[in-house]
Amino acid sequence: MSHNKYTPATDRYSNSVGYQACGKSGLQLPNISLGLWHNFGDVDDADEALKMIQFAFDHGITHFDLANNYGTPFGSAEKNFGKILKEHFSSHRDEMIISSKAGHQMWDGPYGDGGSRKYLMASLNQSLHRLKLDYVDIFYSHRYDENTPLEETMGALSDMVKQGKALYVGISKYPTDKAREAYRILRENGTPCLINQDRYNIFTRDIEQSVLPLAEENGVGMIAFSPLAQGMLSDKYLNGIPENSRAAHSYGFLQKSQLTPERFEQIRKLNEIAAQREQTLAQMALAWCLHQPTVNSVIIGTSSVKQLKDNIDALKNSAFSDDELWRIGELGA
Ligand SMILES: NC(=O)c1ccc[n+]([C@@H]2O[C@H](COP(=O)([O-])OP(=O)(O)OC[C@H]3O[C@@H](n4cnc5c(N)ncnc54)[C@H](OP(=O)(O)O)[C@@H]3O)[C@@H](O)[C@H]2O)c1
Repeated sequence: MSHNKYTPATDRYSNSVGYQACGKSGLQLPNISLGLWHNFGDVDDADEALKMIQFAFDHGITHFDLANNYGTPFGSAEKNFGKILKEHFSSHRDEMIISSKAGHQMWDGPYGDGGSRKYLMASLNQSLHRLKLDYVDIFYSHRYDENTPLEETMGALSDMVKQGKALYVGISKYPTDKAREAYRILRENGTPCLINQDRYNIFTRDIEQSVLPLAEENGVGMIAFSPLAQGMLSDKYLNGIPENSRAAHSYGFLQKSQLTPERFEQIRKLNEIAAQREQTLAQMALAWCLHQPTVNSVIIGTSSVKQLKDNIDALKNSAFSDDELWRIGELGA
């Protein structure tokens, strides 16, 4: 890892990705946020990870999304990011929105998974320790847990805010009826839900009819994860599965089986539309997500500064004609 002194670009806010309010809150999020699910763990290239964080911040990407179980092994993304923060960003903490989550399996035994108060509270303390922080900006319940009453999960989130360990709270991947309940409970607790994080991309649009309108109705912000369908919506898989790709790694979450012949064909045709728009497919896919007015930010994952740069340039062409939207809609279905 480089120990050269890092000085952020002075034009990071004037020459930036731009910001929009998160739902009805006063918090502005960058149009593009950076997620550390893959590519920032102990199995990944530490120098490239540092360069990506710095490049992101230099371009106004102020929001970094983590979770207890990010990185291989679990927890290593928070640990590595904590080290980067301490060494390079200690005087910029107040310019950053750092989120974490708990909800999926993290440690053995009955208290390392789900939505119990016991798990969420312990996990946040562990995350703060790994990140070397006093508080996170956003803490999420990472998934709905049918074995825990929502009052308990939401009560734990509300108490994190009251204890000063999280400034805001959010939910992720909740079924619509449970999201509605969660919004109500959090409001009644005096800690309204800031944000809902869900999967949204050209290939996965089911939240359009349910989760998105409900968030809007409740003044809750929406942030889209996997906007590139883990890389399928890029030029990465145009000619098969390259060796250095998420689908090829044994520890990646994109399965080779997801790349069916039909998927390859859709990717090729979407790539043609992107080329007509003089964009890469990744750029078109990100612009397409942001074209949805309820989406306040997209969380991208990148494995190189080159990809990050490519993705930031998506914002140069974010308008779509009705014809383009129709053609993309036909291919994404
Ligand atoms: N709440 C949840 O349950 C949940 C679930 C999933 C993700 N998330 C969040 O969302 C973030 C993003 O998810 P994701 O990593 O699946 O996002 P994604 O942006 O859909 O996929 C990222 C992958 O796409 C490829 N890629 C990115 N830019 C590219 C470009 N310009 N050209 C070619 N390939 C490109 C890279 O693959 P290669 O590595 O193959 O190069 C990269 O690792 C996560 O880090 C996490 O913060 C949240």
